Amino acid sequence: MRPTSQLLLLLFLACILLLSIQTSAADKLEKGQNLTDSNGDTLVSAGGSFTLGFFSPGVSTKRYLGIWFSVSNDTVYWVANRDDPLGDTSGMFVFNDAATLVLLDGSRRTVWSSDFSSGSAAQLLDSGNLVVRNGSSDAYLWQSFDHPSDTLLPGMKLGKNFWTKTEWQLTSWRSADDPSPGDYGRTLETKGLPELVLWRGNVKTYRTGPWNGLYFNGVPEASTYTNMYPLHMTGLTGRSTEITYGYTAVPGAPLTRVVVNHTGVVEPLVWNTDTGAWISFFSRGARDVTCEAYGKCGASGLCNPEAALSGFCGCLPGFSSVSASAWQMKQYAGGCQRDAVLECRGGKTTGRFKVVSGVKLPDTQNATVDIDVATLEECEARCYANCSCLAYAAADTRGGGNRSGYVMWADAIVDLRLIDNKQDLYLRLSKSEFGEPSVSKFPTRIVIIGVSVSVIIIVVLLAFFFFIWRRSHNPGGFSDRNIIGKGGFSNVYKGKLRDGTDLAVDVAVKRLKRTRLTDKGREDFLREVEVMSTLTHVNLAELLYYCQDQEEDEWILVYEWMEKKSLNRYIFGTHCNACRVNLSLYAHMYPKLFISVFGLTHLFGNAGEQNMPRSSPNWAQRLEIIRGVAVGVEFLHSKQVIHRDLKPGNILLDDSWNPKIADFATAKLFIADQTDPTVVLTPGYVAPEYAGAERTLTYKCDVYSFGVVLLEIVIGKRRTSMPTFLLHAWELWNRRDIEELLDQEVGELGELLSALARCIQIGLLCVQNLHRSPEEDRPAMSEVVAMLTSSDSQLRMPSYDNQESEYCMGK
Ligand SMILES: *[C@@H]1O[C@H](CO)[C@@H](O)[C@H](O)[C@H]1NC(C)=O
Ligand SMILES: *[C@@H]1O[C@H](CO)[C@@H](O)[C@H](O)[C@H]1NC(C)=O
Ligand SMILES: *[C@@H]1O[C@H](CO)[C@@H](O)[C@H](O)[C@H]1NC(C)=O
Ligand SMILES: *[C@@H]1O[C@H](CO)[C@@H](O)[C@H](O)[C@H]1NC(C)=O
Ligand SMILES: *[C@@H]1O[C@H](CO)[C@@H](O)[C@H](O)[C@H]1NC(C)=O
Ligand SMILES: *[C@@H]1O[C@H](CO)[C@@H](O)[C@H](O)[C@H]1NC(C)=O
Ligand SMILES: *[C@@H]1O[C@H](CO)[C@@H](O)[C@H](O)[C@H]1NC(C)=O
Repeated sequence: MRPTSQLLLLLFLACILLLSIQTSAADKLEKGQNLTDSNGDTLVSAGGSFTLGFFSPGVSTKRYLGIWFSVSNDTVYWVANRDDPLGDTSGMFVFNDAATLVLLDGSRRTVWSSDFSSGSAAQLLDSGNLVVRNGSSDAYLWQSFDHPSDTLLPGMKLGKNFWTKTEWQLTSWRSADDPSPGDYGRTLETKGLPELVLWRGNVKTYRTGPWNGLYFNGVPEASTYTNMYPLHMTGLTGRSTEITYGYTAVPGAPLTRVVVNHTGVVEPLVWNTDTGAWISFFSRGARDVTCEAYGKCGASGLCNPEAALSGFCGCLPGFSSVSASAWQMKQYAGGCQRDAVLECRGGKTTGRFKVVSGVKLPDTQNATVDIDVATLEECEARCYANCSCLAYAAADTRGGGNRSGYVMWADAIVDLRLIDNKQDLYLRLSKSEFGEPSVSKFPTRIVIIGVSVSVIIIVVLLAFFFFIWRRSHNPGGFSDRNIIGKGGFSNVYKGKLRDGTDLAVDVAVKRLKRTRLTDKGREDFLREVEVMSTLTHVNLAELLYYCQDQEEDEWILVYEWMEKKSLNRYIFGTHCNACRVNLSLYAHMYPKLFISVFGLTHLFGNAGEQNMPRSSPNWAQRLEIIRGVAVGVEFLHSKQVIHRDLKPGNILLDDSWNPKIADFATAKLFIADQTDPTVVLTPGYVAPEYAGAERTLTYKCDVYSFGVVLLEIVIGKRRTSMPTFLLHAWELWNRRDIEELLDQEVGELGELLSALARCIQIGLLCVQNLHRSPEEDRPAMSEVVAMLTSSDSQLRMPSYDNQESEYCMGK
C-alpha cells in the first residue's frame, strides 16, 4: 500500500471517529458548557437509559428541563423547573463559571439553580441520577435523586433526616400537562413504625402498613419481586439521624419506576421491552382496593375485602358498631365499640388476648414502639402490665417470634384490614369474651351494665323494626306533607332515619308509584341499585339503602340528603321560566319513549323553587362545580357507565357547594350490544346523534350534555329558555365577546377573564357537532378533566357547523 493511501485511510477513520463523537450526545457538562433548547441539545447517560433535555409535557407548549427514560420519552421522572416553566425554546442549561447548574430563560434570567457551588462536572448517570462531583472523588455535591418529583427510581430514597430537617418525598404533577406540584404526596411516616402514606393535601388517604423487616405489611405482594428489586429500610435501629426507604434493581433487571400520578394512583411499573409499554407489577382486584381508603371502617373497625355483602366493613371481635343504623346505611366512620368493658386491677390488665391473624396493622402514629424487645412473650407481659394497652403486635416478623420488637396501641385502632400476610394483632378483650366469668369486686356493676346494654339493644331493635314496619305497613308515613318532589313514576320524600341513639340522619327517599310499576320499571330499579351500590365517589350522590319488597310491592331507594338541593336553584333562580319541565307531560306526549324512569329530576330540584330568592355562586365556585361534575362523569365513564341524563336538575350540591351527580335510573353500563330500546331524552341536553333516528349511544353523549350544563352554569340561563342558546354562544365566541356570555350575577371578572374564555372554549368543544363521528367531534371526559384542571395547556379551537339547526325541544 502506498503511503498516500495509508494517510487517506487514516484521515477517513479519524473523520468517522469525529463524526461519531459529534452525533452521540455526551453524558457530562463541564464548566462553561451549556445545553441549548433551540439546538435540541441533550445529555444521554453512558448506557443510554436516560436522557436530560428540554421537553413540553402533553399538550402544553411550555418548556421544562427534565430527565426521561430514553426508551419512553414521554416518561419524565424528574423536572427541574416544575414551578417555573419557560414560555419558549430560548432556554439554556449551563454549568456556569461559579460551577453551579443554572437554567436560564431567553433574557438570561435564572429560573432554577442547584444549591451548591464549586463542583467539577455534572454527569447524567445510567441510574438516571444527575450528579455534580467534587473533584475526582466519588462524593456528590448535589444529585437529582435528592430532589424527587413524582417518581421513585431504584437508588432513590424517601424519608427524613432529623438533624438537617431534610425530607425526601414524592409530589404528583398537577395534571398530565403540568408538572407543578399537584394534590397528592407520598411520604415515609416515621412516627411509630415507618410506613409509606399517600396524602391528598393534608388528609391521609392510604397507608402501606408498617415495615415488618422485609416489606410494608399491607403490601405482601411486594415480597414476590424483592429478589429482583430488593427493598431497603435504613435507620430503624440505634439512634439514627435519618430514616429512609428505597429500593434497588439487580443488574439486568428491567427498567422500573414507582409513580404517584396526578389522579392519586401509586403504581410500581416495569418496562416491557417486547411490547414497548409500562406494565404494572401487580394488579389488585377492584374489590381489594375498597379496603384501602384510610380509616374506611372507623375506629376498631375491620375491613374485609371478601365481605362485599356487608359492605366490606365489620368490627373487631368483641366489638359492635356504635350506630347500627348508620352502618346499615354504609356510613362506617362512626366505628365500633367494645361489648364488654376492660377491667384493670392493681395496675394490671385482667383481660386476655385474642389473635386477629393476617392483618395490615393499624396506624402506628400514636403507638408505642420498642424495637429492642426480644420476644412475643415479653410483648405480652408488657401489655399486661399496662392498663392502657389495647393491643400489641410484633414490629418485625422476620424472626418468627424472636427479635420481634414491640408495638403497642393505647388510644385507637384505626385503618385495620385483613390481608394475606403473616402478621398477627393481639387484641385485649375482657375475660367475659372468652366465656370466663369476669372477676369484679362489684358484681352489681356488671348487672347494671348488663341490664342497660340489653335495654339499649332492645330499644335499638324495636326502633329498627318500627322503622321497617312503618315503611312497609303504613304508607301514611309517607305523608304528602313530606313530599319534596313528584315525578311521573315516583314520589320523593324527605325523611329521617333514627335509631335508639341520638343519631337522626336526613335522607331523600324515592318511592315508586305502585300505579306506575311495570316490569320495565322494576328492571330499571334493580339496575339503578346494581350500578349505584358498586360506585362511590365524592362527586356522585350516594345510594345509602334500598328496599325491594316483592310481596308488598314496595320499591324504595334511600339517598343521602343534599341540603342545597340541585344546581337548578342556584344558576337559574328567578330567571327561569321553563323550570317546571313536567316529566309526566312528556310521558304523555311521547308515550312510547321512556323518559327518566323514576324522575329524580323532581327529587330535589323543583320543590318551592319558584319563589326562592337566588343566592348565586360566584365565578370561582362555579368553576369548582364544573370541575366536580366533570370529575364525576369521568369516574362513571371509567367504570363503563353512561349517565345519559345529565342536566342541572340531576346535579345536587352539598353544604360546601360540592356537586354530586344523581339519578342513575337512566345510567347504562356501556356494553357493545346496545339493543336496549330504552331511550332517554331530555330536550336540550341530549346529543343530536342520540336524539336522531340512529340513536347512537356513546360516552360522547354525556360529553355533549356536560357541555350544555357547563355553558348553562356560565351563562346562568337555561338552554330551553332561549331557542338560540347555542347559536348565541357560538356567535359571541366568534366575535370574541365572551364577557357578554357571563351571567350578570357573577359580577366583575377582573383577571379571571382568561379562565372564563378557557371554560367556554371547553364547553363549546364538548357540544361540537360537525357531523363527523361523535368520537371525533368531542373530547373524552378524561381530556375534559385535564383541560379543566390545567390552566395553560393548549386547547383546540372549537368549530361550528352552520348548516345544523339547533335541536329543539318537542321537534
Ligand atoms: C453555549 O455553548 C456553545 C457551544 O457549546 C457556545 O458556542 C455558546 O457560546 C454557548 N453559549 C453561552 C451563552 O455560553
Ligand atoms: C419521542 O419519541 C417519539 C417516537 O420515538 C418521537 O416521534 C418523538 O419525536 C420523540 N419526542 C421527543 C421530544 O424527543
Ligand atoms: C470536596 O473535596 C474536598 C477535597 O477532596 C474536601 O475537602 C471537601 O470537603 C469536599 N467538599 C464537600 C462539600 O464534600
Ligand atoms: C393513573 O394510574 C392509573 C392506574 O394505572 C391509570 O389508570 C390512570 O390512567 C393514570 N392516570 C394518568 C393521568 O396517568
Ligand atoms: C394520634 O393522636 C392525634 C392527637 O391526639 C390525633 O389527632 C390522631 O387522630 C391520632 N391518630 C390515630 C391514628 O389515632
Ligand atoms: C402505659 O402506656 C402508655 C401509653 O403508651 C404510657 O403513656 C404509660 O406510661 C404506660 N404506663 C406504664 C405503667 O408503663
Ligand atoms: C428463637 O430462639 C430460640 C433460642 O435462641 C431458638 O431455639 C428458636 O429456634 C428460635 N425460633 C425461631 C423461629 O427462630
